[in-house]
Amino acid sequence: MMPLIDVCFSPELLHLYELPGKVVVVVDVLRATSTMVTAFAHGIEKIIPVSSLEDCLNQKQAGYLTAAEREGRKAEGFDLGNSPFSYMEPEIKGKTLVMTTTNGTHAIRLSMAADKVVAGAFLNVGSVAAMAKAEGKDVLVVCAGWKGNFNLEDTLFAGALAERLKNDFKPANDATLAAQHLYRLAWTDKAAFLADSSHVKRLKNLDITKDIVFCLQEDVYDVIPILENEILVKLQPVAVT
Ligand code: MLT
Repeated sequence: MMPLIDVCFSPELLHLYELPGKVVVVVDVLRATSTMVTAFAHGIEKIIPVSSLEDCLNQKQAGYLTAAEREGRKAEGFDLGNSPFSYMEPEIKGKTLVMTTTNGTHAIRLSMAADKVVAGAFLNVGSVAAMAKAEGKDVLVVCAGWKGNFNLEDTLFAGALAERLKNDFKPANDATLAAQHLYRLAWTDKAAFLADSSHVKRLKNLDITKDIVFCLQEDVYDVIPILENEILVKLQPVAVT
């Protein structure tokens, strides 16, 4: 029997899903999971996702790098924000980062009951698809959304992954079909498709259009951040098929 691919449009809906036995792909295209993928691709060793600013700050004493974002901005008192471009520097190599973002890190923490929890983004979508095929288990894409609400960019990622898996996985229900339909409308120019979406407008107001353009690229990196004992580490690369 073919495994299923399902989509949870918001962490608020997670109570409707059974996580044990599944591979969960948490996605926050703009920008948390894109930033995590970029950080691992540039040599970060571990990322500890935490939900609150307080938890993040408490770990600073342990000597970890800290990253915090709220409302799209870097929170004050932390080393880094949530732009992927801040994680391309040689200084992050071999470091452990404690990270909190408005939605992404929280969605990861809420997904911990799954068999495997990985961070997906357009940047690593091919590798995530290859990993899902190799696992052969049902996949649930958990969209980080925005404060419990639906968002378009994470849904597009779910559609992209479903498209990559369409010969090996069955859509679990209408959520997957909807995501796939949207992705088919959007894929030739995702930036144009997303021009009126809420977080794109929010980030453009903060003058970070270059982050959006970067995060919408597909298959830039082959790394997959995977949760092990509540800490994200780098899964060994899987060949893209
Ligand atoms: C989040 O976790 O909500 C985001 O990644 C927000 C952002 O763009 O920094």
